[in-house]
Amino acid sequence: MKLIIRLLGAIWVSSLIIIAGFAFVQIQSERDRLLTDLERRAWLLGEGLKEAVEPAIQRGSPHRIERILKKFGSPRRGIAVYDQFANLVVATPDLASRLPASLPMVSKALTAEEAQKGIETMGGEKTYLYAVPLQGEGRPAGALVIFMDASQIEINPSDLLQRNTLRLLILASVVSLLTLLVVRWSITHPMTRMTEWARLLRAGKPAPPPVSDRLFGSLASEFSELARSLDDAKAAAEREALLRLEGEALWTEERLKQFVRSQLNDTPLFVVSNREPLIHQWRGKKIEAIAPASGLVAALEPVMRACGGLWIAHGSGDADRETVNAQDKAGVPPEQPAYTLKRVWLTKEEEDGYYYGFANEGLWPLCHIAHTRPVFRAQDWAAYCEVNRKFAGALLEELKGTERPYVLIQDYHFALLPRLVKEARPDVRIALFWHIPWPNAEAFGICPWQHEILLGMLGADLIGFHIQFHCNNFLETVDRAIEARVDRERFAVVRGRHTAYVKPLPISVAPEEKEQEGGISREELLRELGPSVEWFGAGVDRIDYTKGILERFRAIELFFRRYPDYRQRMVFVELAAPSRSHIKRYQDLDEEVDRAVEEINWSLETNRWKPIVYLRGHHSHKEIWPYYRHADFCMVTSLHDGMNLVAKEYVSAAEEERGVLILSRFTGAARELADALLVNPYHIDEMAQAIRLAIEMPPGERTLRMGRMKQIVRERNIFRWAGLLLEELTRLSVHPAGVAEV
Ligand code: G6P
Repeated sequence: MKLIIRLLGAIWVSSLIIIAGFAFVQIQSERDRLLTDLERRAWLLGEGLKEAVEPAIQRGSPHRIERILKKFGSPRRGIAVYDQFANLVVATPDLASRLPASLPMVSKALTAEEAQKGIETMGGEKTYLYAVPLQGEGRPAGALVIFMDASQIEINPSDLLQRNTLRLLILASVVSLLTLLVVRWSITHPMTRMTEWARLLRAGKPAPPPVSDRLFGSLASEFSELARSLDDAKAAAEREALLRLEGEALWTEERLKQFVRSQLNDTPLFVVSNREPLIHQWRGKKIEAIAPASGLVAALEPVMRACGGLWIAHGSGDADRETVNAQDKAGVPPEQPAYTLKRVWLTKEEEDGYYYGFANEGLWPLCHIAHTRPVFRAQDWAAYCEVNRKFAGALLEELKGTERPYVLIQDYHFALLPRLVKEARPDVRIALFWHIPWPNAEAFGICPWQHEILLGMLGADLIGFHIQFHCNNFLETVDRAIEARVDRERFAVVRGRHTAYVKPLPISVAPEEKEQEGGISREELLRELGPSVEWFGAGVDRIDYTKGILERFRAIELFFRRYPDYRQRMVFVELAAPSRSHIKRYQDLDEEVDRAVEEINWSLETNRWKPIVYLRGHHSHKEIWPYYRHADFCMVTSLHDGMNLVAKEYVSAAEEERGVLILSRFTGAARELADALLVNPYHIDEMAQAIRLAIEMPPGERTLRMGRMKQIVRERNIFRWAGLLLEELTRLSVHPAGVAEV
């Protein structure tokens, strides 16, 4: 109410000021216009009469002058003629009675010998006077004076007031009315609805924001965020309380936070990876933030959100430079930063040699036994060394001023980084986590730079792999390739005064605590897939030759050929993200997959059904989630995989009573998820059989298997992974000379 009174007061006062201002200006200009008009008329008359009167005054003929004046005089316009001594000679009759005894203006005109003008009050009336000297034999013989009525020049303020009060009333009333309406519809009404909505949120009943316009839209989304954070905090607190009650030692985001606070004494955490957690890309004229399809990112992101710190990664998006500050840093997530991303820029040549070349044409196929031959080029190796040095420089710069920091280096892109950093800063505690498999010593031995790679890795205090088998392979490789003491008791490699511990730490995902809001339902999904579809399976992959996508499609084809009853009733949906597409092998695979889908669909499809729905492109977690949630089965058929987090994401999100996981036995995940239907992806028959088993599995068995797997993923979650890794790292006492011991 106060607001309305203030608004109306402001409207009325400003209307008053505006109208008064306009009236003042109007009076001034009207006055000027009338005066100019009077002047012009008086001058015309004066100059015209002067010529006629001059001969008469020279001859001293007042009668003639009188006749002339009578002709030109009128009630509102008087004329008078004075002699050279400023004495009145003749005046028009109406004027005579009002004329004062002497007129100073006449004397002035005679003395100055030029016309004089001005307004004077005569007989109580404003009169405009124009006095012009009359010439006679070279000197003034008298003066002619024109008197014009100037009463209209004086505008009566009360008239003006009357005229403008009405204007003021109309203007102020219309503006007030409009303002009241606008305030009501744009402020009061939405505010009332927002208050209602805020009340619902406070009561823990989430509802969509009631306003979407620009005025309150951003406020509403801030509110939503706040409510969501409060909700999450409340849920986390409830979970913690429940766990305490149950006496469970489950790792949660909150527990990891506490752990970092108490064990790391708030020393910031430094993470280095090639792939950044957020890529900024131009989409037309807009910048879009994309979470990349990367197991590493899926795992590390929740950890960084919980712990905070600095994540150094390659800025690979074409709009990445537009979204960082002068130090190449940005807060993530942008709307409520929990940690800092620092982007390192690479030239095209560096990216080509280091990322596409050595990392992905050399080390990737070397470590994955998927029968794609590794390619080792000297120039790629040089670029790999150069980029490792570049990242070491960027990291060391950031570590300045932090004592005994913790650094988590990620993956095969940075095998040389641990040593480079350790040599410069022996006090840094370094963990290197290798996200891909480690092959046996013979297989790794074909790498021309295996010594340099192993020595670089052994600069770390802790080297993590997903499974024990990869740890064993690594120790075996070190044993065979370099001079070092392999301590099998402690699972460590000792070189000089430095010890690098080797540990299996199976990576995982953050538990899915709640239903995704606004997700598409199973019924809607099935409807989209076809009118007769009753079941669907899902696959989620980067298009990579290690993922066994072609083998999976062949298994689906075989399934439909062998069990034709399922045609039209079952569909397989593949969500495939293009990956590393500058590499020829990946381009070829992309085409092969396209061709396989086309061929299989062509040979089996009907008018209203096709066996494989192939969704090629980048999909956000939110888009993928409904497929995970509602699929009857999910196929992870990697030919070889370090862990494979799609398997764990699926287990985490799937409906307990419905989902079945078909999982390649050559993934790290297969060691933990024994309740999946484990398959050999090279055995197409076996996979087709597994699909049938998945669809026909009795509900009780499904629930039992999925329930057990959910329990495992819930317990062995990513917070546990980070907690165990950091726990190991904090247990090491690192000496300034670079010696690490337990
Ligand atoms: C694997 C690697 C990750 C990598 C991811 C995606 O999971 O271990 O380091 O980020 O694949 O590959 P990309 O080359 O796109 O980063």
